[in-house]
Amino acid sequence: MTPLLQLDTVTKAWRTPAGLVQAVRGVSLAVQAGETVALVGESGCGKSTLARLALRLTPVDAGRILFDGQDITHASERALTAIRPRLQMVFQDASAALNPRRTIGQAIDDPLRVHGRPNRAARVQALLGEVGLDASLASRFPHEVSGGQRQRVGIARALALDPAVVIADEPVSALDVSVRAQVINLMSSLARQRGLAMVFIGHDLAVVRHLADRIAVMHLGEIVEAAPRQRFWSQAAHPYSQALIASVPAATPAAARARGPAPLAGDLPSPLAPPPGCSFHTRCPRAIATCQHQSPPLIRLAPDHTARCHLLTHPVLDAAASTGHR
Ligand SMILES: Nc1ncnc2c1ncn2[C@@H]1O[C@H](COP(=O)(O)OP(=O)(O)O)[C@@H](O)[C@H]1O
Ligand SMILES: [Mg+2]
Repeated sequence: MTPLLQLDTVTKAWRTPAGLVQAVRGVSLAVQAGETVALVGESGCGKSTLARLALRLTPVDAGRILFDGQDITHASERALTAIRPRLQMVFQDASAALNPRRTIGQAIDDPLRVHGRPNRAARVQALLGEVGLDASLASRFPHEVSGGQRQRVGIARALALDPAVVIADEPVSALDVSVRAQVINLMSSLARQRGLAMVFIGHDLAVVRHLADRIAVMHLGEIVEAAPRQRFWSQAAHPYSQALIASVPAATPAAARARGPAPLAGDLPSPLAPPPGCSFHTRCPRAIATCQHQSPPLIRLAPDHTARCHLLTHPVLDAAASTGHR
């Protein structure tokens, strides 16, 4: 099946006064129709950059982006205008994404108006209902409602044009812990009901625990492991994934004691000067000499489970890895 959204060895470095920040380094990721993929990694590992690349909000340095089989890597703004309704984003900070002078109803109506959609008033009402907001909120301004309600407005806006793919960049990170689960459950059930493909970005595995069909783990600009959710939780193979799993709060104190302390040590290395070899070797409890100077190959552990780690000694998987072009 042709993936709905496909990133093929995508690379992006940001020019900064301090030098080139290597934010995304040879990332490949395919999202199938109706699938939710969770993209997880620490702050600064390149998740938002990847989202912006996928949505063509910023140009890639190298690699390809395909939407529904169509190469959009260098698509013109005109061509993108036709695609953008189908490829939408939910932002972390709903307050910043909403115009403070537009009412909630207007905010949801805006994409419908811009794209000349019919029956706008009825659509706005239906969207409010879909995201669990009372119709009376349409006349309120963003600052008059709660953070959770504002993020629901952001979700309604993203859904307004009936997208096929939604990329949600840490949509609950700015919310009170008490309302996070509600918003996650809402997004999950909307994705299911609408048959949406979703990329749900988070810095915390706990958030995506029940949400994703598949989990992809990012470390310093690279996807180091990807697997179906259940397989990931039971058989994660990369030491970084294992460290992230160990740092998820255990359900009970007994379970926490049984698991011991989280083994993840050290900060994310600087993307201004990624370490040679495996980007995780400076923090890896199991690093061997090879890890210091050789990029790990992509290993296929199961048809839909891949990891980049020297400790896994299966055959090299992709052409990109085997040609050293990463
Ligand atoms: N517009 C930008 N200009 C310069 N550097 C950026 C820009 N956006 C992100 N970066 C840098 O790229 C790296 C990855 O950032 P980002 O993609 O925001 O990571 P994440 O979303 O995982 O926290 C960071 O070092 C960040 O400082
Ligand atoms: Mg981010």
